[in-house]
Amino acid sequence: MNRRNFITSSLIAGGAAGGLRTAIGATGDKPALLGGTPVREKPFPKWPVFDQTEERALDQVLKSGVWNLDGKPVPEFEASYAKALGSRGVLATSSGTAALLTCLNVLGVGPGDEVIVPPYTFVATVNVVLQVHALPVFVDTDRSSLQIDATKIEAAITPRTAAIIPVHLGGNVCDVDAIMAIANRRRIPVIEDACQSHLAEWKGAKVGTFGKGGCFSFQASKNLNSGEGGAISSNDSTFLERCYAFHSNSRGRAHAGYDFSYRAKGLNLRMTGFQGAILLAQMTRLAEQMHTREQNAIYLTSMLKEIPGIAPARHYPGTTRNAYHLYMFRYDPAAFAGLPLAKFLKAMRAEHIPVSAGYSPLNKEPFLINTLQTRGYKKIYGEKELAEWTGRNQCPENDKLCQEAVWLYQANLLGPRTDMEQIAAAIRKVQKYAPELVKA
Ligand SMILES: Cc1ncc(COP(=O)(O)O)c(C=O)c1O
Repeated sequence: MNRRNFITSSLIAGGAAGGLRTAIGATGDKPALLGGTPVREKPFPKWPVFDQTEERALDQVLKSGVWNLDGKPVPEFEASYAKALGSRGVLATSSGTAALLTCLNVLGVGPGDEVIVPPYTFVATVNVVLQVHALPVFVDTDRSSLQIDATKIEAAITPRTAAIIPVHLGGNVCDVDAIMAIANRRRIPVIEDACQSHLAEWKGAKVGTFGKGGCFSFQASKNLNSGEGGAISSNDSTFLERCYAFHSNSRGRAHAGYDFSYRAKGLNLRMTGFQGAILLAQMTRLAEQMHTREQNAIYLTSMLKEIPGIAPARHYPGTTRNAYHLYMFRYDPAAFAGLPLAKFLKAMRAEHIPVSAGYSPLNKEPFLINTLQTRGYKKIYGEKELAEWTGRNQCPENDKLCQEAVWLYQANLLGPRTDMEQIAAAIRKVQKYAPELVKA
């Protein structure tokens, strides 16, 4: 199950059942998969959350007749998100993918260049590298944090490395100090993929403000959501103006309607007024939702870390705030009588806890291998180098992680603390009955 299917099914699973049952029902505390009563029946909170604030905001844009970025909402959102990040500027885009693509283009990353990426991320992080015909170079994952292993970045740098795209995955934060130290020493620009980590913090500063650009996604599943949408934050106003021109078909911010003067190559990756209006409305809820997710996640971690074989994602010491787009942990079958991960997930879902196995190894994706075998790639990099690419891009730790990771989704953290108790209770129940579940 991929992340978006997981999110859809977690909402369905959450919404499918009726009233709350107690953990120990008529069938005792047996797992639901063995005929017992599910730990949970009450739906998890629905996502997205909205009311008349969003309705009014959309109505205003509609009636204004200015539906594109020339109206008030997009610039207002940019100013308000920049303030929330503590960033000098923000440029709104049509998606997180568009934000990443814009940054790479403005940095001039192109054919013959290499870009360092993690293998444990949403495919867009790598797709944008392929879009500019650069070569993705994968750096293995630190399984304890589920983030890129910063200690392995330096060894992956070559004279052709044109950018590093660390991802702050799942709301958690990668090792910013270590990454920025290497990048600054080697003079390589960093584009932070903060698409899943709105308002997460490293040493009190928001992620997405450390690199040349920080990219955010407001796609439907995200903690800040306008269906689709994205943004680039940057403290470099010249860089941001160049991003503006790229995302607006080569035209500068101050162009008048029939001013057809162009700055550089570009595309149309603009945000609409409707997206801007929804985002401004959603931002009124963001701080409180963040607080609820954080409190619930801390409580959940306090329970899960006591369960043998369950290892919640580690935070690096500089992490002062996790945005918990995902609640991620690792599962060790050895502590569950050898119960395979797939069966653990099935047993948890039967308890109405919507868990997912997360990503598969991106560096091994057949579509990626096929892309590197296309005519253009062969011309740019040569067959010999492309043949060596697979060997150079092995990520054994990430391979292991993909066999042991378990995710919960951010909306599962928006309810009462008792929801967290039920998640922990379901895991304990599955563990207690693991020998029977293995045989079932
Ligand atoms: C880590 C990561 N990078 C990039 C993206 C791309 O964002 P979007 O879906 O808004 O294009 C996403 C979102 O799905 C993501 O999770």
